[in-house]
Formats: sequence, C-alpha cells, structure tokens
Amino acid sequence: MFRAIADEAVINRMGFNNAGAAALAQKLSGWKKSGRWPRHPVGINLGKSKITPLEDAAEDYADSFRALRDLADFFVINVSSPNTPNLRQLQDKAALDEIFAAVQQLNSVQKPILVKVAPDLSFTALDEILELAAPRHLAGIVATNTTVARPPTSDAALQTIYAETGGLSGRPLRARSTEVVRHLFKQTNGRLPIIGVGGIFTADDAWEKIAAGASLVQIYTAMVYEGPGVARKIVRGLVQRMKQAGVSDLKEIIGSAV
Ligand SMILES: Cc1cc2nc3c(=O)[nH]c(=O)nc-3n(C[C@H](O)[C@H](O)[C@H](O)COP(=O)(O)O)c2cc1C
Repeated sequence: MFRAIADEAVINRMGFNNAGAAALAQKLSGWKKSGRWPRHPVGINLGKSKITPLEDAAEDYADSFRALRDLADFFVINVSSPNTPNLRQLQDKAALDEIFAAVQQLNSVQKPILVKVAPDLSFTALDEILELAAPRHLAGIVATNTTVARPPTSDAALQTIYAETGGLSGRPLRARSTEVVRHLFKQTNGRLPIIGVGGIFTADDAWEKIAAGASLVQIYTAMVYEGPGVARKIVRGLVQRMKQAGVSDLKEIIGSAV
C-alpha cells in the first residue's frame, strides 16, 4: 500500500489477503456464540480466490456464500478489484450472470446480494450490469471500487507513487465515482439502492454522493488519513447541512442533484 499524501490518495495492491471463507465463518460463529455480535448490520464482501480459474469463478463465489450466508446481513459480490488477476473480466454480463445465478440458487434465506463495480467501466458496460438487477433480484449496487487510472500531476514524488501498480482510492477518485453513482441512479430511476463510495472525506463529499443517488455511503481512504473519528465528523456535518437545507430526512436528498 502506498500513500500519495499530497493528493490524499492511496494505491493498494493488497489482493484478498485473508484466511478465506471457512476461517471467517469460524470467527463470526464464535462472535455469535459468545454474545459479541455487533448491533449494526454486518456485510461481507465476496471475492474469488486468486488461484481459482475464471471459468470456475461462479462456483468459488457460491462456495464462499454457502459458508457465510447465515453470518451476515448482506453480501457484496466484488468483481471490481484490480488486484486479483483478471477479476474485473467477471464484470462481463454473461460471467456475472453466472455468478449471480449460482449465489442466488443458495439464497433461500433471501439475504440481500449487491454487486460492486469498477469506476473504469463505461456507461454502456454499467448498463449491461443493470440489466441483470431485476432478473437476478439484486438488492443494490456498490459504486465504486478503486481505479486503475491515475490523475495527472507534475509533482515528481506523486509521479513515482502513481507509477506503482494497484488500485487508486481517495480524493482523486471522488468525482468519477460520483459520476458513476449519478449514472446508475438515472438509469434505474432511483429504484435500485446504491452504496456510494470513493473519495469521501467530509460531510460535503457524502452529501454529493447522496444527492447523486446514493442511499448509503462507505469510506475507506479517509479512515487511513484521518482515523475512525472521521465517521463521526461526517455524520455531524451531514446533520448541519440538513439544518441549513431545511431537510428533516436525508432520504429527501437522495438523487436530488440528478
Ligand atoms: C487497502 C485497501 C483495501 C481494499 N480492499 C477491498 C476489498 O477487499 N474489497 C473491495 O470491494 N474493495 C476494497 N477496497 C476498495 C474500497 O472498499 C473502496 O471501494 C475504495 O477504496 C474507494 O473508496 P475510498 O476512496 O473511500 O477509499 C480496498 C481499498 C483499500 C484502500
């Protein structure tokens, strides 16, 4: 992981560095049994193992879902990380449809299943994914993952960091991910819940994502630069902005800028 400090950005090529679905299931069951389950909703991001060939991807996602389906409130199918070789090819409509079908077949408990998309997809490619939302009963879409693009810079130190392979997150991603959220909201007439993520550091950034159509927001890089207190700062700032705008329910803002 590399910090591009002047831009408040991060490049990471961590991959899915975890012990796998079985180990996670064991840990989460332990929490349940010992009364340590959090009070907030728990979501699990599912990614294919690096060593699984693409043609076996659907089975890999389904196996992880089977191991974990009783242990979280919602699931996100991640086909957009740039750090697992060829993973993003699974955003292709036919490949994705196969994954959704395999997972939904095991989903008799009807856990919400969302999909997470890359900011580098064209609007046409995003529209193809949206065509699967209704037939495959998707609960929503997470926009966006990190980008393989790099912002232009004349700063030599930043240029060195931006030459690193990996996904870029943080401030330089903000505008593009908002654009993707806006497009998805427009195309679905606001009928598909969107989790907006990418470059949110402040209440204004969160407001921008909500006004573009997000009904939930997520942060990562802001935590790296500012620590966990940033969540409280954003929430307090949103309350302020609601007062200024004379809004009593943030839902009124969802998609208001589209
Ligand atoms: C170190 C690091 C690891 C990440 N790992 C994952 C991951 O495993 N799955 C995933 O869907 N996104 C992952 N992401 C992407 C973030 O969830 C988020 O979509 C992206 O960083 C954009 O948001 P941000 O600008 O607030 O960081 C990771 C990001 C970072 C910086």
